[in-house]
Amino acid sequence: MLEQLKAQPADKILALTEAFRADERHGKIDLGVGVYRDAYGLTPVMAAVKEAEKRIWDEQKTKAYTQLVGDAEYRTALTDMILGEGAVQRADLSSSASVGGTGAVHLALALARAANPELTVYYSDPTWPNHLTILSSMGIRHQSYRYFDAESGTVDLTGMLEDLQQAKAGDVVLLHGCCHNPTGANPTLEQWAQVAQVVKESGATALIDLAYQGFGDGLEQDAAATRLLTGALDEVMIAASCSKNFGIYRERTGLLIAKTAEAQQGTVQANMAAQNRQAFSFPPDHGARIVSTVLTDAGLRQSWTEELEAVRLGMLELRAQLSAALREETGSDRFDFIARHRGMFSRLGLTPEQVEKLRSEYGIYMTGDSRINIAGLNRETVPVLAKAVAEVIRR
Ligand code: LMR
Repeated sequence: MLEQLKAQPADKILALTEAFRADERHGKIDLGVGVYRDAYGLTPVMAAVKEAEKRIWDEQKTKAYTQLVGDAEYRTALTDMILGEGAVQRADLSSSASVGGTGAVHLALALARAANPELTVYYSDPTWPNHLTILSSMGIRHQSYRYFDAESGTVDLTGMLEDLQQAKAGDVVLLHGCCHNPTGANPTLEQWAQVAQVVKESGATALIDLAYQGFGDGLEQDAAATRLLTGALDEVMIAASCSKNFGIYRERTGLLIAKTAEAQQGTVQANMAAQNRQAFSFPPDHGARIVSTVLTDAGLRQSWTEELEAVRLGMLELRAQLSAALREETGSDRFDFIARHRGMFSRLGLTPEQVEKLRSEYGIYMTGDSRINIAGLNRETVPVLAKAVAEVIRR
């Protein structure tokens, strides 16, 4: 029977990682998958995470099941971090721990599809490719909205607002809460207010993918758009990930929060539990416990915040260095936008042929759309990349 299965296309981002590993060239540079790396190319376990794991090892008395929607303390702590202190006392929020940010997106879409099988999901052009894979695999109709003006490297707000007007009640508008993946271009808060207005008028539900809180302008600042949208709209879902900001990628730690009418809260919460039960029963707990241990202990929280801030500032510095190096190498301001972008990624605006040349001739790996992971760079590799980019665009 299983011979009937069709071959599956490789995930382009993950395939790139494999190709990089297989490349034996010395001096190769991996700017592919969105995993933070320090100046030595390592993805370290954060100090607060290590300490939290020690405490859990020492103090945990049982590994019996938690709840179908995950541990309550974790959901409380993370909801407060995302929506602001005291948010969790609100009677209009439901939440579930999830299998990473991907699991939260999947759960949100499963709920939306259960509520309205005829829905259309509006997604930014471009978006994280896995959004499209998930939508297609779930059989959900989806349509893009304009988002990025490649010429200026900024958000095409006019196009975005115009396209979002097509959404209607029962549809979902998928937004990146901060640090847009793959472009790195983000609306200002004033622009977010306009987006919120259009989504409100449409009656659609916003689904905010928040995978990089703390990687852009700061922990609080990166939550500002999510808080604005949650305040302005009647119905919002937030798919949050702890992979990047806690550096616990493989622990698969995420959270789905839904804001609905208070009268709906119990039903939404029960639907989250039911969806989890039929898919995997209980969400994983280890990563969630690390997060709640860090967030609820003043010392650990302080240590984590400082380390995260250092990571963020390091990426900002690399952005400034790269845009300056490209200005020097190309003699133009074409790449100045890199310094203005936020988060892990920027799209360089190169052709697929130029991207391919960078890989085959220079050993520099980035996704086919010329998205680079800023954290894949360091002081030594910034000039190497800038020189290579200048060479391939000159030809
Ligand atoms: C990325 O976009 O590279 C990250 O979100 C990692 C992934 O799972 O694709």
